[in-house]
Amino acid sequence: MCGIFAYLNYNVNKERRYILQVLFNGLRRLEYRGYDSAGIAIDSSSENPPSSSPSCPNNSVISPPPLVFRREGNIETLVKSVYQEVAETDLNLEESFSVHAGIAHTRWATHGEPAPRNSHPQSSDDGNEFLVVHNGVITNYEVLKETLVRHRFTFESETDTEVIPKLAKFVFDKANEEGDQTVTFCQVVLEVMRHLEGAYALIFKSRHYPNELIACKRGSPLLLGVKIVLTREQKAKAQGMLPEKCDKDDNREMNPDFRYWPHQGEELDPTKGQINQKELMEGDCNGSAFHDDKFLLKNGHPKELFLSSDANAVVEHTKRVLVIEDGEVVHLKDGEATILKFDNDKGKHGGSLSRPASVQRALSILEMEVEQINKGNYEHYMQKEIHEQPESLKTTMRGRLIRGGSCKAKTVLLGGLKDHLKTIRRSRRIVFIGCGTSYNAALAARPILEELSGIPVTMEIASDLLDRQGPIYREDTAVFVSQSGETADTLLALEYALDNGALCVGITNTVGSAIARHTHCGVHINAGCEIGVASTKAYTSQIVVMAMLALAIGGDTISNQARREAIIDGLFDLPNKVREVLKLDQEMKDLASLLIAEQSLLVFGRGYNYATSLEGALKVKEVALMHSEGILAGEMKHGPLALVDETLPIVVIATRDTCFSKQQSVIQQLHARKGRLIVVCSKGDAAAVSSGGSCRVIEVPQVEDCLQPVVNIIPLQLLAYHLTVLRGFNVDQPRNLAKSVTTQ
Ligand code: F6R
Repeated sequence: MCGIFAYLNYNVNKERRYILQVLFNGLRRLEYRGYDSAGIAIDSSSENPPSSSPSCPNNSVISPPPLVFRREGNIETLVKSVYQEVAETDLNLEESFSVHAGIAHTRWATHGEPAPRNSHPQSSDDGNEFLVVHNGVITNYEVLKETLVRHRFTFESETDTEVIPKLAKFVFDKANEEGDQTVTFCQVVLEVMRHLEGAYALIFKSRHYPNELIACKRGSPLLLGVKIVLTREQKAKAQGMLPEKCDKDDNREMNPDFRYWPHQGEELDPTKGQINQKELMEGDCNGSAFHDDKFLLKNGHPKELFLSSDANAVVEHTKRVLVIEDGEVVHLKDGEATILKFDNDKGKHGGSLSRPASVQRALSILEMEVEQINKGNYEHYMQKEIHEQPESLKTTMRGRLIRGGSCKAKTVLLGGLKDHLKTIRRSRRIVFIGCGTSYNAALAARPILEELSGIPVTMEIASDLLDRQGPIYREDTAVFVSQSGETADTLLALEYALDNGALCVGITNTVGSAIARHTHCGVHINAGCEIGVASTKAYTSQIVVMAMLALAIGGDTISNQARREAIIDGLFDLPNKVREVLKLDQEMKDLASLLIAEQSLLVFGRGYNYATSLEGALKVKEVALMHSEGILAGEMKHGPLALVDETLPIVVIATRDTCFSKQQSVIQQLHARKGRLIVVCSKGDAAAVSSGGSCRVIEVPQVEDCLQPVVNIIPLQLLAYHLTVLRGFNVDQPRNLAKSVTTQ
């Protein structure tokens, strides 16, 4: 839901061509967050006056107006038009800047249609005195707009964002009119924040404060990346710096997982250290930075600084990042990053502009590789992510399944839950909360959790829980499932559950995300970066994590031992089974070519595979843009049967489990109505499911019943993928959608 990005080079000469490339590449990495329109703002001249400071009255320095480019369409449309415009003017791509502050935005429209006027950066006035890029929604923008209109501001867009730069100009002008010639950029932004309601991550750029950027956030994600540029001597010193010299406590501080939840079951010992030693030797910063983050954030050493909605856009430049917390304001000036904590209550003084204290934060090291966010040999991210599931599942389980050992028992170790398992076991109820695919994954795991824990498990779609203000109690364990860890509805539901005193557990793919930070404990699914808007590998990893959660909560009761061990064996073997089912790729492509012109597709499932029917239908719907519905097979006779005829394609999931005979009877009833069936069944069951009528059969390997949804969804993911490509739609950027739904 919109991506924001900024790049500031300090005391390192960079040409305009390079700066543009950094901004465009940043946007390309964030494009999955929104692709309706895009924009950038860069400095027009390298002759910027020096940055303002309290001793240098701000109204005496004003840099030339920045160049602002905004286009409807995707990033490549923006890139093309910027270079075209540059070619038509005398703008010099080789012009060199020793300091330059550029900002960029890719949009998923909330207020106002995709159009250049509604694209960001949004501006305060014709002279672009203040420019802002925004991810989120300002809920009180109408009131602010009315006030600003009364003060003779004119608006050109329909966005909620436009009030922000205009408010900044209003605050700045007012301070100057009142004789405060030393008002700082930070003071202006803090005053603006005081008036904003809603969710936001914002980056400000201003002609009054050249070479500076300010970012702040509340609700929407934001991080700072720091890349130190070394001199030859410093590089040599860093090479000579032995990793062993690093203080172990520092290692713990810098690893985001130790600050939130342990990453893997086996890595409970913080002294094991997570910092990659190779990285210390080859990294882009001086070894001393590991001992003193102030070196990175507080000195005027040459550096490149990045602000971004997520790590994808930063990792190719640096792995040293700081996840910005809600209410924090980051001021980039003179090669320093100062972080201030904004306290809304303290800010309500109504008098002079506030001056909050700065806070000290430690940098984290990203555990991500650039290759993870490239498509490799695949044509699309969705295709890559479907095919990498044998690997992603292995990573999800790594270090968490214990087979053998001294006591020879097979167990599960989830480090992030270990201190809370007793409380979870004592809860009156477990409530799963999520949206879309994450909700479906929880639904797939519900039966095994009920079976092994004996605790009632209820399901909540986050938005529905909020709409109803449904009951959540102190005795509940609320489990929040979210790939991004940033989904607005899920986050609000988390806030609600925390207010109601429930124990809150997070299951997310994003280390350092809001859900990871705000829950009491949790488990990272470690599926690796998921970029395709349609979630695939995160879904299967979520199910596996929740199966492990069921095993962990279920504990070591003798009555369940054989069942538990069978599941653990099944988990060990699951990547192989997934590899096997991926061989259906061509078969699913052939099936897709038969369905290419259909209007609709139904998917019937029950038991463990009710979730498969919902998730399979969701995949087809969201990427192939074909109407598709997942139906609980037990409900077929209560309405959906009326739709059945010889033309409507119906997928029935009928793999072997306790529901198999019931699904056979569903198939018979559909055959009797000449339904056009595609049956997903266990290997060897083709004859059993096709007796009584004709149908196309897709045979999949049989696994432990609670793990079968992981295998069964894969042919449907492949079907959705091929249908989309054959229908000529964009698989990775489905119409009207975006990943990380950070607005309600
Ligand atoms: C569908 C899809 C969405 C997300 C939903 C929740 O393929 O990706 O339905 O599952 O928006 O997102 P997260 O899991 O990030 O909370």
